[in-house]
Amino acid sequence: MSLHVATRNFTSNTMQKNIIHLQDCVAGMLALPSKSVDIVATSPPYNLGIAYGTYKDNKPRQEYLDWLGKVFEAVKHCLKDDGHFWLNVGYSNIDPWVGMDVAQVAREHFVLQNNFTWVKSITINDVTTGHFKPINSDRFANPTWEHLFHFTKTGAVPCDKLAVGVPYMWDCNIDNTGRIKGRLAKKLGFKDIKDYNKNATTEQREKFDIEIANKIANQKPKADSRCRGNSWFVPYDTIANREKHRGSHPATYPVALIEQCIKFSGISSGVLVDPFMGSGTSAVAAVKCGLEYIGFDIDAEYRQFAQDRIADFETHDARELAERDTLDQKLSLFEVI
Ligand SMILES: C[S@@+](CC[C@H](N)C(=O)[O-])C[C@H]1O[C@@H](n2cnc3c(N)ncnc32)[C@H](O)[C@@H]1O
Repeated sequence: MSLHVATRNFTSNTMQKNIIHLQDCVAGMLALPSKSVDIVATSPPYNLGIAYGTYKDNKPRQEYLDWLGKVFEAVKHCLKDDGHFWLNVGYSNIDPWVGMDVAQVAREHFVLQNNFTWVKSITINDVTTGHFKPINSDRFANPTWEHLFHFTKTGAVPCDKLAVGVPYMWDCNIDNTGRIKGRLAKKLGFKDIKDYNKNATTEQREKFDIEIANKIANQKPKADSRCRGNSWFVPYDTIANREKHRGSHPATYPVALIEQCIKFSGISSGVLVDPFMGSGTSAVAAVKCGLEYIGFDIDAEYRQFAQDRIADFETHDARELAERDTLDQKLSLFEVI
């Protein structure tokens, strides 16, 4: 996959992919063909005075919300009717309402289909896992989570929640036979399986055994996976050199978070748009999941970093796959000998 650089606007009958446009995202998304995008995943500036390179993160509140209203309208324009819009907004003790205010603006254009909490760090039984920025305060707790809103146009878009499911703890959860036996016992006129076990005749038992064997043989095995719920623990990667891995960008999210959004949405091909691409995280997640991407950012330095990061990811990923293929070939040769 090649990486293109675009600094010009493009017209609405084209859809160049695998590009980060150095451009305002509202104009950029409005120039995309209507209803052409499968998934939008993004994190806008939170208006918390974060020191971005180009963007000034301190608009008056109403101006900020009005601007995001325009962004969300543009998302609605380019998103397919059965598309997914994942919106991450941070939590701040000094402005605890910002995430909810932003969601209320998105509510004017979308339905909140799922409301996730992105947990960055958690303490269970006195053991803390994950990372967070500690604050120095005697009135506020350290914020260890962020909002992750899942908007759709109708609120009824099917998802593949088991694609990010968790395995059952006990095998009995995937064993359907008890339920099938109970239903069959009732069908044969018994109150329940206990009644059948106690009172069935030899003839009834023989019939029951044949029927149950047939039913079980025709049964699709139950997936060893259950929904992980709407609290998602996705820690930041531990990185030794922040500048090298995230550039000078001050507010990034982990690739794994957006991978999980893509998989939950049940999307394995198509186009992801990130209106606020920053350091390129959403693009890396898209490539990892087999999707194409279109990004926007107004900061030339971030875009350069993002492009290098994606190219680096593609090179390493391609090399790893090639090495795996060579190893597979060697192993199959070994088997033949
Ligand atoms: C919270 S950051 C996104 C970080 C990204 N999720 C990551 O992991 O690197 C928001 C980004 O929006 C960009 N931005 C601000 N205003 C913009 C606009 N009008 N159009 C496009 N990008 C904009 C900023 O330069 C910043 O990189």
